[in-house]
Amino acid sequence: EKGGFKHFMLKEIHEQPHAIRETLAGRVSLDEGRVYLDPTDIPDADWQAFTRLVIPACGTSWHAALVGKVLIEELARLPVEVDYASEFRYRNPLLDERTLVVVITQSGETADTLAALREAKQRGCHTFAICNVPGSMAAREAHGVLLTHAGPEISVASTKAFTSQIVALYLLALHLGQCRGTLSPTAVMKHVEQLLALPVKLEAALEQDAAIAELSREFFRASDFLYLGRGVNFPIALEGALKLKEISYIHAEGFPAGEMKHGPNALIDERLPVVMVMPREVGHAASELRYEKTLSNLQEVKARDGRVIAIVTEGDTEAAGLAEYVIPIPATSELLSAVLAVVPLQLLAYHIAVRRGCDVDQPRNLAKSVTVE
Ligand code: F6R
Repeated sequence: EKGGFKHFMLKEIHEQPHAIRETLAGRVSLDEGRVYLDPTDIPDADWQAFTRLVIPACGTSWHAALVGKVLIEELARLPVEVDYASEFRYRNPLLDERTLVVVITQSGETADTLAALREAKQRGCHTFAICNVPGSMAAREAHGVLLTHAGPEISVASTKAFTSQIVALYLLALHLGQCRGTLSPTAVMKHVEQLLALPVKLEAALEQDAAIAELSREFFRASDFLYLGRGVNFPIALEGALKLKEISYIHAEGFPAGEMKHGPNALIDERLPVVMVMPREVGHAASELRYEKTLSNLQEVKARDGRVIAIVTEGDTEAAGLAEYVIPIPATSELLSAVLAVVPLQLLAYHIAVRRGCDVDQPRNLAKSVTVE
């Protein structure tokens, strides 16, 4: 049942290329430069008229929402607000009929996320669900659904559902861009090309598995970890920290790299592993700028004797010259780098948890789907 893998989590990490292929299948056309969502109850005119999106979610799905904010704001030029479902539902959120409320939920059964969906419907909003379980409550109740075809996720720690959610959000961003005219067919074509290249690049990222297992020897006794990233990779830093804490019980925190000076720098000493998520898109001015800034953060961590593990684009010699360890991922656009960069973080958390003798698939105090509050 685990297909030769020791744990479901490891199997599901390795299923990611397949999960992404399935999530893209039938939804993108290179010839036409178009994406196709499954039919929804939301009229075309309303798709064009949205002025804002709100995305309530929990946990790892909330991290996907933060990635989605960057994607949708960049590609469709619509403002996006991300909220914890448990905050959204007990507030008095500002919503109107031109706000699209998108819930992201692997299980489709998370109590707070369902409550957020119902609240949005009650207030007259169009709702949309990105969900991995066909027939789940979220999939049945939302006006539009985009199913991630990641297949059943057994491990409590979410992996393949997360990367599939990001790809689904990318499709939603392209769809909104198409409807609103912010993206030409030629532009969509380029994005589709990059999406279709992802599964093979994920396979290449997974080839680091053995090297990361080795690296985990060096770090599995640490009591704290810091994860840093910028832009679309800031939520990846948060996700890397969550994966580590939930399965290895090591305290870990994620921060935007630029926030270090505002407090977290005080934590750095020679015992602290700092994972820096810093892919670069060569030739993209804004991406290069973010990279340069993160590179100077890396130097600051080093100056304070922190132990840097850097996730970098293959061929990057600058970061490699400074970090104690580097884990390469294949080159892609910065927007899609999030999908690749999370893979080594999943593997690092996994191998550290295994070395610590933790119950990887069933971490203490956690349930796969939080249907009660
Ligand atoms: C972490 C994890 C949880 C879930 C969260 C939301 O690995 O799995 O944080 O992401 O409980 O679950 P769904 O997506 O089913 O609503």
